[in-house]
Amino acid sequence: MRMLVTGGAGFIGANFVHYTRQHHPEHQITVLDALTYAGNEASLAPVRDDIEFVHGSVADAALVDELVSRSDVVVHFAAESHNDNSLNDPSPFVTTNLIGTFTILEAVRKHGVRLHHISTDEVYGDLELDDPKKFTPQTPYNPSSPYSSTKAGSDLLVRAWVRSFGIHATISNCSNNYGPYQHVEKFIPRQITNVLAGLRPKLYGKGENVRDWIHVDDHNSAVHAILEKGRSGETYLIGADGEKNNLEVLMQILELLGQPADAFDHVTDRAGHDLRYAIDATKLRDELGWTPQYTDFRDGLAATVAWYRDNESWWGPLKQQVEAKYAAQGQ
Ligand code: NAD
Ligand code: TYD
Repeated sequence: MRMLVTGGAGFIGANFVHYTRQHHPEHQITVLDALTYAGNEASLAPVRDDIEFVHGSVADAALVDELVSRSDVVVHFAAESHNDNSLNDPSPFVTTNLIGTFTILEAVRKHGVRLHHISTDEVYGDLELDDPKKFTPQTPYNPSSPYSSTKAGSDLLVRAWVRSFGIHATISNCSNNYGPYQHVEKFIPRQITNVLAGLRPKLYGKGENVRDWIHVDDHNSAVHAILEKGRSGETYLIGADGEKNNLEVLMQILELLGQPADAFDHVTDRAGHDLRYAIDATKLRDELGWTPQYTDFRDGLAATVAWYRDNESWWGPLKQQVEAKYAAQGQ
């Protein structure tokens, strides 16, 4: 298959390209990426000779039309992805997440190309800490931030294009990912690289917010299962039963890096901070036979800590600017 991967220089997209090269080398890959602050061509360096890389935006209709016309499938990762940034400036979130997805949809409709749209569990809003419920495909959309609302809007566009125009598309909504090549603005890499850079980790509020962590390779193996066996028009929730509060995750990071348990700062909480996310992935497991490989969070976290320790040349150049931006917000 000729596969167009949007956002392939970002965290999950780059890992998807590596995973695909390793496990499904029969696919030809073209990456379309705008190389925003979050995109990094160095993340694709190990596979650079095996793929085509196109520098451009998913909101560029002429470019997208040309690339989609010579593809069999589009896997659409490209997005503005960070909640904190969306609170400071929502504008690129509307352009990339909404207009960009609309542009992809019009091209796949015109050329009869299959689409898999990558989305987030944050479209469902949040859950109470003591609620036994998890998100299911039937949970009503109730996004909180400019990030999650633009992702929710993009999902609804995909559903409407399936129903109104009969395009062949699937959607997945995944929980929080961790692993190599994740930007240092995000929670886990920020805390690891803070310790490695001699800075104190920063916890928002009391650290009681819960995220349902999944290793990025498990997310990407699920995407391949959906590409192979998913039914058109369906939504699949991806999660690996990895619920942990932020304080627990930070304690494990400190321990893995040989730091005392109190070697961190509490900082200003995020506005509108979602309390808890949790995924019920029964449909994915039962219908498509998917199972995660990283069942021990601590092992996956230890491998991630080792990756950041070994790859300071990848994250070092990004670090100072990110920390200056957070410091200006009291975070
Ligand atoms: P990321 O911010 O690391 O990467 C996004 C990539 O998209 C970057 O390479 C960036 O350059 C590119 N991009 C941004 N705007 C673009 C545009 N207009 N045209 C082309 N490329 C553009 O994000 P990520 O964490 O890898 O997330 C990828 C996808 O997965 C997103 O759709 C996100 O909503 C979704 N998702 C992420 C998580 C998570 O935990 N990170 C969880 C569930 C779903
Ligand atoms: P993040 O990685 O931004 O992902 P998301 O907002 O998509 O869940 O944040 C994960 C959790 O960690 C979230 O509850 C906010 C919290 N957090 C901190 O406590 N400190 C930090 O420095 C960051 C970036 C996030």
